[in-house]
Amino acid sequence: MEKVVEMRGITKIFPTVIANNDVDFSLYKGEIQALVGENGAGKTTLMSILYGMNQPIDSGRIFINGKEERIYHPHVAINKGIGMVHQHFMLVPSFTVSENIVLGHEKRKNGILLDKEEAIKITKEISKKHGFLVAPMARVQDLPLGIQQRIEILKLLYRGTDILILDEPTAVLTPQEIKELFSTIRSLVSEGRSIVFITHKLPEVMAISDRVTVMRKGRITGVLETKKTTMKEIAKLMVGREVLFQVEKEEPHFKGVVLELNNIKALSDRILLAVNGVSLKVQAGEILGIAGIEGNGQTELAEVVTGLRPLVSGEIIFQSKNINKASPRQRREMGIAHIPEDRLKTGISIDATIQDNLVMGAHYKKPLARGIHRYLRQTKDYAEKLINEYDIRTANQNLPTISLSGGNLQRLVIAREFSFDSKLLIISQPTRGIDIGSIEFLHEKILSMRDKGNAILLISADLDEIYALSDRIAVMYEGEMVGEFHPDEIGREELGLYMTGAKREN
Ligand SMILES: Nc1ncnc2c1ncn2[C@@H]1O[C@H](COP(=O)(O)OP(=O)(O)O)[C@@H](O)[C@H]1O
Ligand SMILES: [Mg+2]
Repeated sequence: MEKVVEMRGITKIFPTVIANNDVDFSLYKGEIQALVGENGAGKTTLMSILYGMNQPIDSGRIFINGKEERIYHPHVAINKGIGMVHQHFMLVPSFTVSENIVLGHEKRKNGILLDKEEAIKITKEISKKHGFLVAPMARVQDLPLGIQQRIEILKLLYRGTDILILDEPTAVLTPQEIKELFSTIRSLVSEGRSIVFITHKLPEVMAISDRVTVMRKGRITGVLETKKTTMKEIAKLMVGREVLFQVEKEEPHFKGVVLELNNIKALSDRILLAVNGVSLKVQAGEILGIAGIEGNGQTELAEVVTGLRPLVSGEIIFQSKNINKASPRQRREMGIAHIPEDRLKTGISIDATIQDNLVMGAHYKKPLARGIHRYLRQTKDYAEKLINEYDIRTANQNLPTISLSGGNLQRLVIAREFSFDSKLLIISQPTRGIDIGSIEFLHEKILSMRDKGNAILLISADLDEIYALSDRIAVMYEGEMVGEFHPDEIGREELGLYMTGAKREN
């Protein structure tokens, strides 16, 4: 088979890390290759180098179609037929679809820039040719992310790209959009193009790729044929140890309603009705998973229940008591723990020490204190125990919290919230930005909190997580609960219809 890309001995050193360490990578004509690895493994860096970004590199050579090239700028890459869709799209939101497609590549006729009519014509032609339906005159900012991504791809196709790099393209898509993207990818390779598909979702790797290259800490740890490997093997190469995919989950034992919401309403920061008449119940010993595309009121829902956001109307009943008027602190004292999605924003005080953050909320009570007297030894032991149990990597609990890396910061918040005597846990996007080794650990912890009798409200945009943990699934769409299911009774595709508002229960 013909190699369209060959990268040899690529090394890229950033001030604090070797992002690519003597990496060899190749891509065959007509193949879909998955590039996988945990956050920070070096995937984006490697592909950015191929796309002429991240220059200069420290060493390495790049061959395109067998010929050595110096790709010192994206213009060079595009000239060689290489294009990249970044994790964060690079379209101009206020421009129309057609303006975005021709932007930076306007053909000049007799030295005159292309006019709008011409741009629309080109967009129609190119979208017809590839069977993508887009509205040329629509403004990009009004379009869903799935369509915006399509426009990024079209833009590359317009430039004549035949080597496409997609950096975590499914992260922002619904199940339907993912299905459409996969069929797009298949049709692009059937026309002879080659694709690099960056992801850390292994079911996607199995579903779409021909080969898989695995990276870990800047190095290649494996190059495999998808048909001849398993998710387990790939995960092991990614993480450096065995990973269990199925968390052991016992049948739930329901022990009475802990939280009841009756027709609650709340506003978003932009003063729109973000939670629009939600009613639900969560029992002790169960996990209610709230599925939904982000921005449908889930964040506001969590904040209203924890008291961080005012309630407009309705009732919040916790252990048979109306807590509408209780402050966040009072709710915490009653046993409502909260893991917010933005751990930095509301989870911790970054300037305080690691110990201070770990014991916060427990520090003024038995056994760490009596009256105004704080027991320093007990406090230190308490923090040390959490550091060990949650594997928070730090040299010393008296260091400022800001010294922790992102993953360790997450563990700190979780350690604190899981360690006090809670009755209800509100957990938002618990594994966002966490690597797969830690996801397994966290999922086990969440299930053990359930089995200890906590009622758990789990908000997650990740359907794998929703299915792995939930005893019941409720779908939130535009501030309302549009359906409630047992995980066994509904498939992802159908759940996706509820998430996008295409379907709802009465
Ligand atoms: N521009 C940069 N400056 C400094 N460090 C960087 C830069 N880009 C990436 N890194 C670091 O290089 C490593 C690899 O990052 P990246 O290639 O983005 O990984 P991945 O895409 O696999 O998550 C990480 O430790 C990251 O923090
Ligand atoms: Mg990346």
